[in-house]
Amino acid sequence: MAPSLHDDVAHLSFLLGEWHGSGEGRYPTIEPFGYNEQVEFRHVGKPFVSYVQRTKHAETGLPLHAESGYLRPVGVDAVEFVVVQPSGIVEVHAGTVDAGSGSIVLEATDVLTTPTAKEVSAVRRSLSVDGDALSYTVDMGAVGQPLQHHLSATLHRQ
Ligand code: HEM
Repeated sequence: MAPSLHDDVAHLSFLLGEWHGSGEGRYPTIEPFGYNEQVEFRHVGKPFVSYVQRTKHAETGLPLHAESGYLRPVGVDAVEFVVVQPSGIVEVHAGTVDAGSGSIVLEATDVLTTPTAKEVSAVRRSLSVDGDALSYTVDMGAVGQPLQHHLSATLHRQ
């Protein structure tokens, strides 16, 4: 039997489910690229929401970026987020939730990298859900560049 949604994450229910879609990425130091993406936001009845993401290159179909983490609500209008990437990057975020408009804005308070990972100094993520469409952007400061656009995508609830 599916667990009941914990009261502390009830206002985040707009995220729950599996989402598929596509996005585009760029940065001054790399070639622009398109990607296809699958995301799952799940709950297990505890006061967090789990997040798993996988992407593939739009043209080659080869696996690209992947990440997974947890959203931890702090009351109904604040949220913490931890997320790890196989590229050796760990982001720790604090942010805000507007459940009425289905939007979340996250600012990294810390970005940790393994000794051989690329340098990342700042990350800002914003996400909004409108019905069955989820859109997000990711800005980053990395490899000596200031905070700026890296990704945007739109996904649809499956
Ligand atoms: C949908 C998610 C993402 C996709 C599809 C993606 C894809 C890519 C691609 C294709 C590149 C260029 C090739 C390469 O160097 O490997 C790249 C570079 C990079 N990405 Fe992402 N990325 C994603 C998310 C992120 C996130 C969340 C971060 C960190 C917060 C990040 C940090 C970087 C860095 C540091 C580089 C290296 C830039 C350079 O070497 O000049 N990426 N990404």
